[in-house]
Parts: sequence; C-alpha cells; structure tokens
Amino acid sequence: MTINRKVGIIGAGAVGASAAFSLAIMGTCKEIVLYDIAEGVALGKAIDIEQATHYSTKPTRITAAETPADVKDCDIVVITAGVPRKGDMTREDLLMINAKIIQSVTEDIMRYSPDAIIISVSNPLDVMTYAIGRITGWQRHRIIGMAGALDGSRMAYQIRKKLGYGAARVGALVIGDHGENMIPVPQKANIGDVPLTDLLSKEDMEEIIEKTKNGGAEIVGHLKTSGYYAPGRAIAYMVEAILNDSKAVVSSSVILDGEYGYRDVCVGVPVVLGSRGVEHIVQMQLDDGLKAKFDISVQTVKNGIEVLQSNKVFN
Ligand code: APR
Repeated sequence: MTINRKVGIIGAGAVGASAAFSLAIMGTCKEIVLYDIAEGVALGKAIDIEQATHYSTKPTRITAAETPADVKDCDIVVITAGVPRKGDMTREDLLMINAKIIQSVTEDIMRYSPDAIIISVSNPLDVMTYAIGRITGWQRHRIIGMAGALDGSRMAYQIRKKLGYGAARVGALVIGDHGENMIPVPQKANIGDVPLTDLLSKEDMEEIIEKTKNGGAEIVGHLKTSGYYAPGRAIAYMVEAILNDSKAVVSSSVILDGEYGYRDVCVGVPVVLGSRGVEHIVQMQLDDGLKAKFDISVQTVKNGIEVLQSNKVFN
C-alpha cells in the first residue's frame, strides 16, 4: 500500500472534483484518476485541475478514465458517484437509486483495484458504506465512510462563529449516522486545549448541536444543491491521513464488530486512520444521554440496511 500514491475518484461531480482539486493543491498523490459516467466530465475536470497544479509545490498527474477498467491499481478509491440530495429530498429518498450505482461501481473496484482502500461518500452514507462492505466481503478496515470529517468541520464552523476565535484548533466530534440523527458532541470538544464546557453555556451547546445537524440542509437551502468544498476537503484530509500513515483520529463511518455494543452495522465513530485504512476504532465512554442518541442513530442505519436486504441487493 501507498507505493504508487494513486487515488481513483469515481464520480467527478462537484464533490469528487473538489476532493481532486484539494489533493492536487496539497500535492498528496502522484496520480489521481477521475471517472464519471457522464461523457466529457472526467476529462474536462482532469485537464482543468492538472493545469491548476502549475502553482502547487509538488506535481500531481490528473488523468481521466474512459472506462471503469482504467481506474486500476489504485491505493485508494473514493466513491462519489450518485445522485446528490436536492431540495426537500431526504437522504433516505436516495437509498435505492444510489444503491444500484454503488453496486456496479463496487464490482468494478474489486476487479480493477483489488488491493484498494475504499472511501465511500455517496448518500445515505452509512447504508452505502455497509453495502460496500457486504458486496466486497473485504476486511472492514478497508471500507471507510466519509461523514464525521465533514460534519466535524461543520461543527467547528459553528463553534468558531459562536466564540469568534479558535482558528484551526477547534475540536470537532460528530458520531452516529450521517443523517437526521447525527450526534455532534461539543460537550467533549476542546478549543486549543481548553474544554468547550468552560467557554459555552448549555444553551449555546444545544444551539451548536442543532446548527451542525442542519449544516448540510442550510447549504441546500441557499444553493438548491449540496455543498462540495467542505466535503471535498474532508475527503482529501482522510486520503492524506491514509497515504501519509498519519494515524489521525477522524470520526468515520465503519462497520462495527462489537464496538459500542453493536455489530453488522455501519455508523460514525472516532477511528485512527493510517496506511491500513482503519487502524483502530476508538472506544469512548458514552453517558446515558449519548448512548440513547447513538442507539437511535444505529437503528436508523439498520432500517436502511433492511430496505436493501428486502430489495435483495446482497443476493
Ligand atoms: N459511475 C460513475 N459516475 C457516476 C455514476 C456511475 N455509475 N452515476 C453517477 N455518476 C456521476 C454523475 O455523472 C455525477 O457527475 O456522479 C457524479 C455525482 O456528482 P454530482 O451530481 O455533482 O453530486 P455531488 O454533489 O458531487 O455529490 C456526490 O456525494 O453527498 C453525496 O449523495 C451525494 O451521492 C452524492 C455524492
């Protein structure tokens, strides 16, 4: 792993291209290969992004795959293919449309990048990540859903706005599902090295929790489509952690096998990211309030998994 520093991005839409751009600016990869089912999209964006690397400190080759077979021998494949949430469409509405896309994309990854780590982004995130785990049958450390990295950046934004300071050192922990029952945990966050509980009232915390949960919808309300810069940067941060074996703790959606009292479900928890993908699942103490919220979150994901099961997606 990490020899080629080659990353495939399947779905060169707004989020996929933003991830590629962020990686290219940072010089994280030797090569990024974009694939999109819509003709011309991957090539047009690959050319545009590689031209932008003229001003990067390290070169990155950005190529466009003509077919899924060209996304080959990647260390990491990011899946952003799918239909984004629009207007008042809930994440759950997307379930069956995106499941079909994920299934065919995943089968291609197994064929052409059989040693890759997969970062899944398509919604509903936790259910799709679980589906990728089931379809591949790979060890669970190679399947990682990008959720907490984004939701955490949205929580940090709210904290920074509330306090008016903090720069890059605002704690940002969001666990649970990447949907309506996500669990921002400002009560466990620090700013610099100061516990947030010393700086904000209980009411402020509640406001931050609500605004974080509404973070995606707020952008949809303005743009009529989902955000993409913050998701793109969050993906790039996770790719960096894996390729650089940084062992960063990043909340991510992973398949649980007894951790937090659950198994055979995918949900957001803090994990250590390194060259193996998920190196370790961090087990926090959840008080009764958080545990109750976590249980609801897990149940939401299980309901989505049941929809896939009853539609025979795994047969
Ligand atoms: N293979 C490759 N690309 C595909 C496929 C497929 N089978 N199906 C769709 N795509 C491509 C589309 O052509 C489009 O360019 O996926 C891209 C998705 O990009 P956008 O529509 O711009 O959506 P984006 O905002 O980038 O969101 C991507 O992230 O938040 C999630 O649910 C959201 O699934 C969505 C994903």
